[in-house]
Amino acid sequence: MQGWEVIIVLRAHILRSIGFGPKAPLRSSVLCFCGLLMIFGFAAVGTVASDPAKIVGPNACAECHKQEVEAWKGTHHFQTFREMPRRKEANEIAERMGVQRIRSETLCLSCHYTVQEKEKKQQPIAGISCESCHSAGEDWIKVHSQFSGKTEKTESKAEKEARWKLADSKGMIRPSSLYQLAKNCYGCHVVPKEDLVNKGGHAAGSAFELVSWSQGEVRHNTWHSKGKENVPASATHKRMLYLIGLGVELETGIRAVGQATVRKRYAFEMAKRVDQARKQLAAAAKAAPNVPEIAKMVEYSYSAGLKLNNERSLTAAADGVSKLLASITEKYDGSTMAGLDSLIPGPDKSKGKAREAGSLN
Ligand code: HEC
Ligand code: HEC
Ligand code: HEC
Ligand code: HEC
Repeated sequence: MQGWEVIIVLRAHILRSIGFGPKAPLRSSVLCFCGLLMIFGFAAVGTVASDPAKIVGPNACAECHKQEVEAWKGTHHFQTFREMPRRKEANEIAERMGVQRIRSETLCLSCHYTVQEKEKKQQPIAGISCESCHSAGEDWIKVHSQFSGKTEKTESKAEKEARWKLADSKGMIRPSSLYQLAKNCYGCHVVPKEDLVNKGGHAAGSAFELVSWSQGEVRHNTWHSKGKENVPASATHKRMLYLIGLGVELETGIRAVGQATVRKRYAFEMAKRVDQARKQLAAAAKAAPNVPEIAKMVEYSYSAGLKLNNERSLTAAADGVSKLLASITEKYDGSTMAGLDSLIPGPDKSKGKAREAGSLN
């Protein structure tokens, strides 16, 4: 079953004005942004839920996680703290947005920095750091690391399970919560902020893909190998990363289109992302027909028109995708998805270079 969709051909001049060359392959369902100006508040689409009052900062993690911290220091996420505000482009964006000081106004802080609140004052303390992805640590840092008051060897299996359950309930986002982790990546990397893109001239998101973007410079799987190896994702785990990544791209993109109020670059770019993601997911559905949830996600994405002034239906579609993603992460571990392998980008596509483990000692 195909959901309905408004399919109207965009005129070539509009395409050109938003940066699609006339030769760019025009896909069958080109997107239309009719619709009136919408008036509603801007709830952020995918903001990272890290309460500044509960941020402990990367130095606190470094006490035990030295290897992971060293890996992080080699990333753009670390460097952005110093380097971004020095760029001419950054200051131009800030000026267009009426931001006087990049490091003291929430707009840029929310994606480029880790902000800590101390004595009622908010301060950027690092770039995108541990807690930007694993969530603010204050409530779980002790729980997750104390082996239920015993030692690694004497803690029982039941105690260990209870410990992780408690850490999760206090907001810790662990590798096993792949969907939550991915939502954080896309919440920043889709750049779901209309004004920032249209008025500020900020990039309308990254050409993000979860396997290649997590397996390069960002990779820090050194803990469970006890610092011996920075373990690449296994073939089965890559399938999960690939599929969940595409699904979260779709979900985030649909929500982002839902916030579009004017026929400008933001709306077009976000709609283009959605269209691309659903085509890739349609290919994945064909390659792994034993995972019926994939085709259902695609169906949801066609159930609401990619147009202005359509937030309610788009949100419902995104919520549908979200439920499916949660159930995929519960039901599958990738072992039955070998069909996806030919679609997954190879190691040569990894974004940046992963740090080798062990070079600390
Ligand atoms: C006092 C030492 C200590 C500190 C400080 C600490 N951790 Fe840990 N961390 C551990 C231990 C121990 C484990 C492994 C527990 C296990 O395997 O059962 C762990 C495991 C983890 C894991 C992997 C969880 C999993 O499911 O495999 C993550 C992610 C993590 N820590 C993140 C952090 C972050 C982020 C911080 C800072 C906010 C931090 N840790 C601070 C000791 C610490
Ligand atoms: C919704 C998240 C988000 C917000 C808010 C945001 N950025 Fe970005 N920014 C990104 C992402 C993601 C990238 C990387 C884009 C890419 O992959 O090319 C980026 C890249 C940049 C770059 C180019 C890379 C670099 O570091 O030089 C500049 C400059 C920049 N942002 C400035 C700003 C400024 C100034 C603000 C505030 C006015 C801001 N950004 C707000 C997410 C955001
Ligand atoms: C850009 C997001 C991001 C940042 C920043 C980040 N992590 Fe992670 N972390 C992840 C992801 C994603 C995984 C799991 C990857 C996977 O499933 O293959 C992970 C896995 C881990 C693990 C488990 C490693 C293992 O051996 O299995 C630990 C421990 C950890 N992170 C700690 C940290 C600490 C400490 C910091 C800060 C220095 C940090 N992380 C910064 C996203 C991040
Ligand atoms: C809090 C916002 C935020 C989160 C969460 C986040 N990123 Fe980023 N990421 C950024 C920004 C901003 C940049 C650009 C930094 C710069 O160059 O100044 C970036 C840059 C990167 C780069 C370097 C890109 C390049 O140009 O080489 C990679 C790779 C990356 N992110 C991967 C990830 C992955 C994988 C995740 C999730 C596990 C993630 N990011 C989560 C904001 C974020």
